[in-house]
Amino acid sequence: MKKKIMAVIMSVVMAGATLAGCGSSAGSASKDAGTSDSAAKETLKVGTNAAFPPFEFVGDDGQPDGFDMALIKAIGEKIGMDVQINDMEFDSLVSSIGGKIDVAIAGMTVTEERQKTVDFSDSYYEAVQAVIVPKGAAFASAADLENKKIGVQLGTTGEFIADEIEGAEVSAYNKAVDAVNDLNNGRVDCVIVDKNPAEVFGAQFSDKVDVLPGTTFDFEPEFYAIALPKGNTELADKINTALKELKEDGTYDSLVKKYIEE
Ligand code: ARG
Repeated sequence: MKKKIMAVIMSVVMAGATLAGCGSSAGSASKDAGTSDSAAKETLKVGTNAAFPPFEFVGDDGQPDGFDMALIKAIGEKIGMDVQINDMEFDSLVSSIGGKIDVAIAGMTVTEERQKTVDFSDSYYEAVQAVIVPKGAAFASAADLENKKIGVQLGTTGEFIADEIEGAEVSAYNKAVDAVNDLNNGRVDCVIVDKNPAEVFGAQFSDKVDVLPGTTFDFEPEFYAIALPKGNTELADKINTALKELKEDGTYDSLVKKYIEE
């Protein structure tokens, strides 16, 4: 059973963006009506959900910060566009592309289901789900997730995995940290969430929880990519070229050091 779920999620790195056909470049970019120094630049409207550290969180100044935010701003510089960040519910990002936002960067895993609606850039990060449990709780394999109350973030791959677990009672929250709070209150038995945020929450509540690695549960690797309007190969090419350059010139590595490994 587990295999089947993972096959759906896995759909893998692939430079997704290539799909031909359907040529409309739905909402690729909008003219910036703004300030004089950026009058010539177009604005890239970027959606995220800033409740997913270290990839995105609300910084001390109240603005979205994190690895993804720094990465998309660096991409904006490369492609000569002003980046405007919109913090929204994770679950509404995909359907907002081509409307309220042009692209989304949100630690978003490439899945076949999402590819029906959007294209993806080349993958920029490999991730995996992890499980947060009360300190000392005995979870030793995938079978230990069966018949449990599981907290997840709404519309995430963690939720898709939990939904397939035998006998699981799944509670979906708008923010992953709310699931962790309910774990601490005893309302759920465990939380399934991506590894890096799991580690941040684990450190935040280190007296209360343990973070167990995906390998314990045979979770498969996932690949984060930027979600793009379907069929807009011009924007996809620009973003992929920028990504490649940022990897080559060391910017990508320095962002990994700054946000993920520190
Ligand atoms: N990687 C998971 C997914 O794509 C979770 C992403 C959640 N991201 C966020 N910014 N809240 O479904």
